[in-house]
Amino acid sequence: MNREILNKIREINNKKTQKQKACVVTFGCQQNESDSEKIKGMLEAMGYEITESDITADSGGGAKAKDGAAFELENCGVVIINTCAIREHAELKAFSRTGQLKRYKDKNKDMLIGMCGCMVEQEHILEYIEKSFKYVDFVFGTRSIHKFPEILHNALLNLRQNNTEITETDIANITEIEEDMPAKRGSLFKAWVPVMYGCDNFCSYCVVPHVRGRERSRKKDKILDEVRTLAANGYKDITLLGQNVNSYKDPGNKNYDFTELLRDVTEIEGDYWLRFITSHPKDISGNLIKLMGESKNIANHLHLPLQSGNNRILKLMNRKYTREDYLDLVEKLKDSIKDIAVTSDIIVGFPSETEEEFEETLDLIKRAGFDNIFPFIYSKRKNTPAEKMEDNISHKEKTDRFAELIKIQREISAEKNKAYEGKTVRVLAEGEYKNDKNKKNNGNYLSGRTSSNKLTVFEYNGNVDLTGSFVNVKIKEGRLHGLFGELE
Ligand code: 5AD
Ligand code: SF4
Repeated sequence: MNREILNKIREINNKKTQKQKACVVTFGCQQNESDSEKIKGMLEAMGYEITESDITADSGGGAKAKDGAAFELENCGVVIINTCAIREHAELKAFSRTGQLKRYKDKNKDMLIGMCGCMVEQEHILEYIEKSFKYVDFVFGTRSIHKFPEILHNALLNLRQNNTEITETDIANITEIEEDMPAKRGSLFKAWVPVMYGCDNFCSYCVVPHVRGRERSRKKDKILDEVRTLAANGYKDITLLGQNVNSYKDPGNKNYDFTELLRDVTEIEGDYWLRFITSHPKDISGNLIKLMGESKNIANHLHLPLQSGNNRILKLMNRKYTREDYLDLVEKLKDSIKDIAVTSDIIVGFPSETEEEFEETLDLIKRAGFDNIFPFIYSKRKNTPAEKMEDNISHKEKTDRFAELIKIQREISAEKNKAYEGKTVRVLAEGEYKNDKNKKNNGNYLSGRTSSNKLTVFEYNGNVDLTGSFVNVKIKEGRLHGLFGELE
């Protein structure tokens, strides 16, 4: 990162009579959230005040500003849209949000609009932005985030730019990891810590390896230092991040793998839960399971994307495990780690998936007894191997399968949550619980998460702000979407 340019922009901004505002809108996964924290950190270091302003599409399809957000947005000097390419829907949302920005820019000609993230690592998307979103001033890909101060500087000098310079070979060749970017963390008690970037698995439906490039790991010392600082600053929930964390290898010592890293992290002093996401089932080792069973601060939850419960489809997806392997793994996890919560991702309607094959997925989710699943309808992605497979399943079949999957999982989730009734659990309080029903109670309910990542709601009438603290909650009721209880 170019500190000289960063300082130069700060000096310019500091001379202005009014504080310059900037807004970062983030779509997609935790990796994007983490990237946005860095972009916000750099913006802040360049003298911008970060606003949380946002706009949403109203039911009439027009642009609607959330409470006072329009005003904030109109006054922004810089707006960044950090995009996600995982499914078509995500791309449409990012375009729609970018489209809504036009009327703000029409009112404020000095506003600079930038697009970044996974979408802009694709050539066809760049062409589309060039043609249809002429008011977007600059784009930069996931591997150019550290160049953001220079990119913004050029934009301030009025140069419309494309900073992605993309080709698949370029993306594949990124090996360096920039460590010197400041980050503006979104929370004072929950934090993401990237441990590796990119993915080498090439699941046939997935765009990630094409837009985020090859796997590359951060140096273990950098990761350990970051976690040490977080723990010393009282962070309570720390998540190690990577597209495939189990592929972690310290660049200085190839024998130092993810389990070694996790073991060293758990030895860092502090009262915190340690999570990691995402794990590929083919890479979960016996050593890792053993460590999870022994460690006190590794959270009692594993997210383990299954994708499909049928062996033919798993093969077509290039997942490299069978339904039998997966079920064995879940059994091992449950035998070795008391009360572990397991969640999963499922794709329905992969090209050529038959009704019987889909039923095998239903059967597997019943056997595995997931605490929760994230279901997705298959979405064709450009330049992936599955793009060439005939997408022969009708929209209705896909949505029917999706609905069936949700129905079955709801029953399982409710049953899992019911099992918590009468138990006392440790909860990290995250803040006021808001939903339509108890709005009138005005903040008498707090919500948080258990180590097993269950949403937990409890009544609180005290004066001490519990946000960011661990509390014990006795569970009175386990419902479909979470646990309800009282402070103990
Ligand atoms: N279509 C539908 N879902 C997808 N995912 C990844 N690619 C696609 C796609 N093309 C899902 C997978 C993955 C999660 C992050 O997104 O289930 O685990
Ligand atoms: Fe995509 Fe598969 Fe890599 Fe996950 S493991 S990011 S689904 S290619």
